[in-house]
Amino acid sequence: MSMEFILINKDAAKFVAHIQLNRPKELNALNAQLMTELRDALQEMDTDDTIHAVVLSGNEKAFAVGADIKEMADKSTIDMYLEDKFSVWDAIRKIKKPIIAAVSGFALGGGCELAMMCDMIVASETAQFGQPEIKIGVMPGAGGTQRLTRAVGKVRAMEMILTGKFISAEEALQAGLINKIVPVELYLEDAVKLAAEIAKMPSIAVRIAKETVLKAFETSLEEGLAFERKNFYLLFSSEDQKEGMKAFIEKRKPEFEGR
Ligand code: HXC
Repeated sequence: MSMEFILINKDAAKFVAHIQLNRPKELNALNAQLMTELRDALQEMDTDDTIHAVVLSGNEKAFAVGADIKEMADKSTIDMYLEDKFSVWDAIRKIKKPIIAAVSGFALGGGCELAMMCDMIVASETAQFGQPEIKIGVMPGAGGTQRLTRAVGKVRAMEMILTGKFISAEEALQAGLINKIVPVELYLEDAVKLAAEIAKMPSIAVRIAKETVLKAFETSLEEGLAFERKNFYLLFSSEDQKEGMKAFIEKRKPEFEGR
């Protein structure tokens, strides 16, 4: 795949792919081409058997500063409608393998929304999260009003979305938006370590567990519990379940095949 704004690095020994947003001069502003490339890269990793987990990062200064304002400024409603900008976001939302965002510097607007679409967030001490769209006359459009509110609660989300104020990594950790804070020189390494730890787990169980956790945002407790139970039963038809439990009983390390 030839990509202009995305770098892909596969670590076969760890079963982890690192996808880096690479538009540094624009602080990784998410233009349409970058988003299309990101979707394509993620979809490719999703079907690559040598990859079990993905790390998504920007650079030290910026994870991403949101949609490309210069590309968007003159659009009409009909342009936006016809472009169907959000279909790439919908496709990214459907990626089955776990994605860990490694965030340093700015994660703003669509950048914050992209980080929140990932399954976990490892942040550097310099990370700043914000939904500043209000300052340019709009509001979050790629899930911010929903995901941020679910992550940090109504009053914090309202404050961030209605004032456009950024929060620090420390505040984001306290609010439950991110998993952890690490020194800036280690944030990427740490995210890869976390991804590698997950990549060692039986991949079918990881995939179904991800799907089941995400269901919690979409259903009533009753339906969610029923979905969980069916998926729990389903995993008993995997070879990895037989191997995992047998290995436990025989006091040896399991050898998972991902089937
Ligand atoms: C296009 C952007 C950009 C953006 C920064 N740049 N953000 N270009 N779209 N969102 C460009 C600047 O124009 C500049 O290029 C270069 O990146 C460096 O930015 P500076 O402003 O000079 O850097 P700094 O002073 O360090 O300030 C950083 C910043 C500020 C605080 C992040 O750039 C900023 O406030 N950016 C806008 C953030 C924002 O409003 N995001 C929400 C976008 S709307 P030049 O060539 O001019 O020097 C959105 C909706 C999502 O995300 C909907 C779903 C897709």
